[in-house]
Amino acid sequence: MNTIVEEPELANTNKKLKLGWIGTGRMGYEMAARLAQGGGDVTVWNRTRAKAEPLTRHGAKIATSLPDLAACDIVFCMVSTWDDVRQVVAGPNGLLSGKGKLPRMVVECSSISLEGSAELRALLNERGVELLAAPVSGNAKVIKAGKLSFVCSGPKAAYDAALPYLRMIAPAASYVGEGELARIVKICHNVFLGVITQSLAEITVLAQKAGVPRHAFLDFLNQSVMGSVFTRYKTPALVNLDFKVTFTPYLLRKDLDLGLDAGRRYGVILPSCWCSRPRHRVSSSSRKMFR
Ligand SMILES: NC(=O)c1ccc[n+]([C@@H]2O[C@H](COP(=O)([O-])OP(=O)(O)OC[C@H]3O[C@@H](n4cnc5c(N)ncnc54)[C@H](OP(=O)(O)O)[C@@H]3O)[C@@H](O)[C@H]2O)c1
Repeated sequence: MNTIVEEPELANTNKKLKLGWIGTGRMGYEMAARLAQGGGDVTVWNRTRAKAEPLTRHGAKIATSLPDLAACDIVFCMVSTWDDVRQVVAGPNGLLSGKGKLPRMVVECSSISLEGSAELRALLNERGVELLAAPVSGNAKVIKAGKLSFVCSGPKAAYDAALPYLRMIAPAASYVGEGELARIVKICHNVFLGVITQSLAEITVLAQKAGVPRHAFLDFLNQSVMGSVFTRYKTPALVNLDFKVTFTPYLLRKDLDLGLDAGRRYGVILPSCWCSRPRHRVSSSSRKMFR
């Protein structure tokens, strides 16, 4: 069952819910900004508080601790890995660590495994909190341009309740079913992203080494049937050798590993995913360098 929303619409502000937001990294910051700019009543928490503070100019409030967000109706989460999600939700100082009211729902947007998502759902359901798995496609620039898309799974009623707020952040939201199905969609999407990016870089180098200027090669490719929104979007970076990080190698490696794990689980061999995956684990020092 899919819902593709072509045009963004504001939520029904007569029934304005209290919204919490965890994580204001590259993605979380821009997503929370759209929610606040759209009129959402948003309270934000980030481990590094200074990164969240500029959101106050859009009307967001800043929480000093995670349990402060537990009084919100819906809490969004956008951090890095499953370990980080578990820490911010169920860790000793996490969202669920207080004694008072709990949110109706958590909308978890980080790219995490099926297993992590199922564990999160169990942890939340035990406390009477629903989970909407809602990973996204697009980077921070894409969010600013109003072109992000959500893929969602979990209880349909939770999706319907969250939809007005998802639409403040992104024009497109697809509901793909119960449980953790959205996670496998996102994993497949990012395996495709990694493989296409790797291939695009390789063939551009090949054309250049053979004497074709990068811009001329990519101009042809983009106008051919092989050109796509993505190849056109990546072209300026490849022509200008602009390697500014929009998505860290550490996080892409995580997603390719999630793809390979899912491939093992479902008995699907993913040779191109193997080839695109960096051979060595990204060390903690280079992880910092890429952040
Ligand atoms: N960037 C993209 O293009 C893109 C696109 C789609 C999906 N994603 C996915 O979206 C998620 C976020 O990506 P991003 O690019 O926004 O990453 P990022 O810029 O590295 O931001 C990570 C965020 O998570 C927080 N965080 C990490 N570990 C934490 C912990 N243990 N406790 C509390 N907070 C923690 C960070 O807090 P601090 O600020 O304190 O470090 C920061 O707010 C990832 O799952 C990624 O795979 C990324």
